[in-house]
Amino acid sequence: MDFCLRTLNLSKRYGEKAVVREINLNVRTGDIYGFLGQNGAGKTTTLRMLMGLIRPSAGEIEWFGAGPHSGRARALERIGAIIEYPGFYLNLSAAENLEIHRRLMGMGNKECIDEVLSTVGLLDAKQQKVKNYSLGMKQRLGIARALLHHPELLILDEPTNGLDPVGIKEVRQLFLELAKQRGITILISSHLLSEIELVATRIGIIHQGKLLEEIDYAELRKKARQYLEIKLDNEQRAAYLLEQKLGMGDYLVAGPGLLYLYEGLEQSAKVNFTLASNGIGVREIVLSGDSLEDYFLKITGGAELV
Ligand SMILES: Nc1ncnc2c1ncn2[C@@H]1O[C@H](COP(=O)(O)OP(=O)(O)OP(=O)(O)O)[C@@H](O)[C@H]1O
Ligand SMILES: [Mg+2]
Repeated sequence: MDFCLRTLNLSKRYGEKAVVREINLNVRTGDIYGFLGQNGAGKTTTLRMLMGLIRPSAGEIEWFGAGPHSGRARALERIGAIIEYPGFYLNLSAAENLEIHRRLMGMGNKECIDEVLSTVGLLDAKQQKVKNYSLGMKQRLGIARALLHHPELLILDEPTNGLDPVGIKEVRQLFLELAKQRGITILISSHLLSEIELVATRIGIIHQGKLLEEIDYAELRKKARQYLEIKLDNEQRAAYLLEQKLGMGDYLVAGPGLLYLYEGLEQSAKVNFTLASNGIGVREIVLSGDSLEDYFLKITGGAELV
């Protein structure tokens, strides 16, 4: 397996306070990794350590599978990042801002500017002064700047903070395109499960400085799954009826007289009717299991996350 980034017991203390505690992140090449945690959980501190903006108190960072002691400078050339708010010269246009950055980075070709502006959907607005940009446009310009040197890995700290639902959707779409069409690995932090869950392939949950869980999204969906719990008197025949009459095959015979149905969660009345009218005694149908939110609340000890 190829990893873009791994950390080994990465830690940060400020005085007596352990802010990031022995974190082991495993970001695989191609992942959209959602780094999820409440305000103050330690997300920004972790990302700042990754980017070399602050020094870890302990632990290692390994980039692109090159071993913990390979140079950070080499790795940084392959990474684009926005940590906290991207700063721009407000009286200059978007294109001028990127031009300054291009020169700072010592990059040869000018075409890359139009290319990244087009990627983030700002080509038509490139001559506008940044002070006239909306927050969403500024965020996208920040992403454009992070993309300028063709990074393999993007690290973005709360990229959808402050955006309205339309802006959030656009940025989310952009992440999917960058990941799918360009093969860019993306590490995004967020305090909102609802933003992460629609794009992430993998999720790491940080809580009070500790990484509580790191899990593939598909795996998480299985763990945090809701189902109709049906108590009835002939589970084998009920299973047959669900398949034949309703085309529902995603169920589990959980025991004598007990069947879990993982699809058609809103169709309990129809399920009940179909079973009952085919001679099955249905004693109870209830919605059970965890929603994703429930699951997160459970593992973060009931703390609000959404
Ligand atoms: N320079 C510092 N000195 C002392 N404490 C700090 C410093 N920087 C961060 N902290 C503390 O570390 C903890 C984690 O902060 P951090 O900014 O990493 O959280 P976060 O997950 O990014 O939160 P948010 O969602 O609010 O951005 C907080 O309790 C914060 O007060
Ligand atoms: Mg933060």
